[in-house]
Amino acid sequence: MTAESNTPVVMVTGASKGIGKGIASVFAEAGARLVLVARTEEPVQALAKEWQAQGKTVMAVAADVTDGESMRAAVDAAVSAYGSLDVLCANAGIFPSASLEEMREEDWDAVITTNLKGSFISVQSALPALKKSRNGRIVVTSSITGPLTGFPGWAHYGASKAGQLGFIRTAAIELARYGITINAVMPGNIYTEGLADLGEDYLATMAASIPLKRLGSVEDIGNAARFFASPEAAYITGQTLVVDGGQTLPESLEALGQ
Ligand SMILES: NC(=O)c1ccc[n+]([C@@H]2O[C@H](COP(=O)([O-])OP(=O)(O)OC[C@H]3O[C@@H](n4cnc5c(N)ncnc54)[C@H](OP(=O)(O)O)[C@@H]3O)[C@@H](O)[C@H]2O)c1
Repeated sequence: MTAESNTPVVMVTGASKGIGKGIASVFAEAGARLVLVARTEEPVQALAKEWQAQGKTVMAVAADVTDGESMRAAVDAAVSAYGSLDVLCANAGIFPSASLEEMREEDWDAVITTNLKGSFISVQSALPALKKSRNGRIVVTSSITGPLTGFPGWAHYGASKAGQLGFIRTAAIELARYGITINAVMPGNIYTEGLADLGEDYLATMAASIPLKRLGSVEDIGNAARFFASPEAAYITGQTLVVDGGQTLPESLEALGQ
C-alpha cells in the first residue's frame, strides 16, 4: 500500500466556489485526495487543474445533486480513480429569495429539491462506497437560517436547511452499523464571491451584528467539516456545529453592545 492510498478520498459537492471550494481547499491542504463536484463542468475542471499544478491530488466531475444517476456516476468515477471514497461533504445548495406572498410552487420545489432532496441523493449515492471505507464520514452543510433563525424571503430555504437536520438524525442511527458518521455544520454569514457584490457598507453592517465582528471565511467552515471527518470526531454522529462568530447569541442590540 502506498502512502497516498492511506490518505482519505473526499468528495465535496458544490465545490466550484464559495463554501464548497473552501471546504475542499482545507482538505486538500491537509493532503486528502479530492473529488470536486458541481453542475457546471468548466469551473470545477479549472480549479482541479490549478490545484494539480500546486501538487494536490484532485479530480473534478460534473454532476447534479438532484439527479441520482448523475451522482452515482460521480461516485463511480471517484472510486475508479482513487479506489475508494471515505468522506462526503454534501454542501451544494441554492438560496434564491422570494417572499411568501410571491413565492411560486416551482420556487419552493427548486430549493427543497436541491438543498434537501439533494442531500439525501448525495448520501444515498455515496453509501455503497462509504460502507467499504473503514472510516466513512458525511458532513452536511446546513445553516443557522431555518434551524435557529429566520430571514424574510427564505421560508423555503429555511425549511430545507432545518429539514437537513431532521435527515441526519435518523441517517446517523441507520449508518452507525457501518461505522459511518453523519454530522452537519451550520454556517452563519460567510464571506463568499456572491457576497462581495453587496458592497462594503452592507458588509460592514453585517459584520457589526456579529459578536466576533467579522463575517466567517469559507475556511472557517472547512475547518469544522474537517473536524467532523477526523479520527478525533469518530464518536460524534447526528450532531450539529454552529460556526457563526456568535451571531445567534445576542438576545438584543443591548446584549451586542451597540
Ligand atoms: N454563504 C453563506 O453565507 C452560507 C451560510 C449558511 C449556509 N450556506 C450553505 O452553504 C452551501 C454553499 O453555499 P455558498 O454560499 O458557498 O454557495 P455558492 O457560492 O452559490 O456555491 C454553490 C455551489 O453549489 C453548486 N451547485 C448548485 N446547485 C447544484 C446542484 N444541483 N448540483 C451540484 N452542484 C450544485 C454550484 O455550482 P453549479 O451552479 O455549477 O452547480 C456551486 O459550486 C449551501 O448549502 C448554503 O445553503 C451558505
